[in-house]
Amino acid sequence: MSKFSKISVVGLGYVGLPLSLQFARSGVSVIGFDLDQQKIDSINSGKTYLKHFPSESIAEQVNAGRFEATIDPSRMSEVDAILICVPTPLDDHRDPDLSFVLDTARTIAPHLEKGVLVALESTTFPGTTEDELRTVLEEVSGMKAGIDFHLAYSPEREDPGRDDASVKTIPKVIGGLTPKCVALAETLYGQALDKIHLVSSCRAAEATKLLENIFRSVNIALVNELKVVYEAMGIDVHEVIDAAATKPFGFMAFRPGPGLGGHCIPIDPFYLTWKAREFGKHTRFIELAGEINTAMPDYVISKVADALNYEGKSIKGSNILILGLAYKANVDDCRESPSFVLMEKLEAKGATVEYNDPFVPTVPPTREHAHFTGKQSVDIENTYDLILISTDHAEYKTFDFSSYSCPLVDSRNCIQNKPVKYFRA
Ligand SMILES: NC(=O)c1ccc[n+]([C@@H]2O[C@H](COP(=O)([O-])OP(=O)(O)OC[C@H]3O[C@@H](n4cnc5c(N)ncnc54)[C@H](O)[C@@H]3O)[C@@H](O)[C@H]2O)c1
Repeated sequence: MSKFSKISVVGLGYVGLPLSLQFARSGVSVIGFDLDQQKIDSINSGKTYLKHFPSESIAEQVNAGRFEATIDPSRMSEVDAILICVPTPLDDHRDPDLSFVLDTARTIAPHLEKGVLVALESTTFPGTTEDELRTVLEEVSGMKAGIDFHLAYSPEREDPGRDDASVKTIPKVIGGLTPKCVALAETLYGQALDKIHLVSSCRAAEATKLLENIFRSVNIALVNELKVVYEAMGIDVHEVIDAAATKPFGFMAFRPGPGLGGHCIPIDPFYLTWKAREFGKHTRFIELAGEINTAMPDYVISKVADALNYEGKSIKGSNILILGLAYKANVDDCRESPSFVLMEKLEAKGATVEYNDPFVPTVPPTREHAHFTGKQSVDIENTYDLILISTDHAEYKTFDFSSYSCPLVDSRNCIQNKPVKYFRA
């Protein structure tokens, strides 16, 4: 099978940008396509827009002529393959919102050349590629999937900020519409990635990604529940997890926290819940995990109230500093971050809330928490009634709080230099 020389990556976010760069580094020419003109300009001038991602890695590929970005969809007619990495959120009713995927299909279909491979990478429910994406591509292009063009699904497993695995080294699961589709996708990804794992269909590949994220959601819920139960028994859940993690088999450590965040774990499991209903099936583990995880901010708030109470204060009227807006350590991604929920709940109880986050100097626009847009990160100072750790950024772990007089509530068990009034949540 002949090699791919030029591809397009649609959606240049947390997934699409590193994927584009990995193909470019492997000698494949990449045309990145996005609707966001700022991202396009940023890439073409060799600058990053993701804090954990250095500008040099973009500039190197742009200057070598292997990577460029555009908002012109007609450029798709130049490529041998199109990889789709657009968002798959939930809508206002918490049902799957495939509008970004299907809009992309409508955009690229008029420019599809015969023989092109289209691969969807966005996380989604089983059947999306073969039913939803395929239908729109066929209708708009007038071509037949599996005959005139080829179709595959390969879930992205990117974990932004992780050092011990990269797009290149994380094995890639691939399912295709036909054996030819699979073979083409295997050739394409094999040009840039170390390891490929083929499955029998697009549906199996879609279901694989959901299993991975449901696994995380359920296990995080489990340790969140155990945290509350063990605390009532006077047992430190972190000590217990550390001890259990010494077992060389049959256990994987998950850590409790203030609630789920990010574009994946709080959302993706519900793609399966929605699809399962069509088959008259219920996803009880997913629902229960969702229930436990969404209750965690209330648990943290109760700890904040307790800590203030020791001071003879209430949440109402207190000045509270939240440390960390990003949903996880050392990245600038604050989508679905529990920090927003904590800020809202504390404000609703009458507190004045500020935040600090070295990765998020200004709150970006969000659909659910629009009223925080533009709020600015402030300095960490010993002038608040209480400090609440919501994200375990490296900077906070080593920050010297030992001389601080206000209570510090740590929902991540991460502070090394603790103040006298230190509380875990
Ligand atoms: N972020 C992660 O860690 C991660 C990991 C694995 C899988 N995923 C999945 O990958 C997909 C993308 O996630 P992400 O985090 O990269 O999202 P993102 O929001 O960071 O990036 C998506 C990009 O797509 C662009 N876009 C939206 N509609 C478009 C359209 N019609 N045409 C062209 N561009 C369009 C947006 O402007 C944005 O730049 C989602 O399905 C997500 O669940 C994400």
